[in-house]
Amino acid sequence: MAEKSEKTLRHIAFIMDGNGRWATKRGLPREAGHKAGAEVFKTVSEYCVDIGIPIVTVYAFSTENWKRPKREVDAIFRLFSQYIEEAFARFLEKDLVIRFIGDRTPFPKSMTDRMEELERITAGRKNTLNIAINYGGRDEIKRAVNKLIAEGKTEITEADIEAKLDTAGEPMPDMIVRTGAEQRISNFLTWQSAYAELYFTDTLWPDFGKEDVDKAVEEFYRRNRRFGGV
Ligand code: IPE
Ligand code: IPE
Ligand code: MG
Repeated sequence: MAEKSEKTLRHIAFIMDGNGRWATKRGLPREAGHKAGAEVFKTVSEYCVDIGIPIVTVYAFSTENWKRPKREVDAIFRLFSQYIEEAFARFLEKDLVIRFIGDRTPFPKSMTDRMEELERITAGRKNTLNIAINYGGRDEIKRAVNKLIAEGKTEITEADIEAKLDTAGEPMPDMIVRTGAEQRISNFLTWQSAYAELYFTDTLWPDFGKEDVDKAVEEFYRRNRRFGGV
C-alpha cells in the first residue's frame, strides 16, 4: 500500500516563474506577463485535476515579492482579486477545494472575506487547489511554531509542526515544477519539499501548457524514489 502511494503522483506543485521575462521579450510591460500567466494558471491547474492529480499547489506571490515596484504588485493583486470573483462561478460545479496558503494578515478584510468564502463553499470536495499568496516556506514554519507556543507546547514533534502548516492534512508534494529557467526553490514549500522530485524547465510560465504538464508527469514516473531506502 505504502509503496503504491509513494509512486503515485498525488500532489504536484508549480513555481510559476518567467512572466516578467515573457513580457519583456515582447516589448510589453511586466504586468502583461502576469495577465498571460494568470490564464495559463487556470488552464494548467484544472488540467492537472482532469488528468487525475488530486492536489495541485501553485506559487502566485512570495513573501519576498513585495520588493517589486508597487505598480507590479498592484497589478498582481488586481488579477488575484479578479480570479477570486471568477472562481465563485468557475468552481461551482468542479469537484475542487480552493485553499489559500500563506500569510493573509496584510490583506484588506474585503479580500480575506472573499478568500474565506471561497474556501468555505468549496470545502470537503475531492480535489484540492492550493494557491500560495504572500507565501514563504520559512514564514509558514515560523507561524506554525508560534501556534504551538500559543498552545503552551514546550516540546514538539514533526507531526505537531505538520498539523499547523497551511497545508495541514495534505500529502507532501511529490513533484515541484519550476518554469522560467531558474533552478532554485525560492522559499516555496520549505518543509514539505524534503523528498519532492524537482523538475526545472526553461519554458517561461506564459508559454507553459498541457503538453508540458504531460512531459513533467512522464518524467515523474521515470524517477526512482527511494526516500533514503535502497
Ligand atoms: C513569476 O514571474 C510571477 C511572480 C513572481 C509573481 P516573474 O514575475 O518572477 O517573472 P520573471 O522571473 O521576472 O521573468
Ligand atoms: C518565485 O519567483 C515566486 C513565485 C513564482 C511566486 P521569483 O521570481 O520571485 O523568484 P526569484 O526572485 O527568481 O528567486
Ligand atoms: Mg521570477
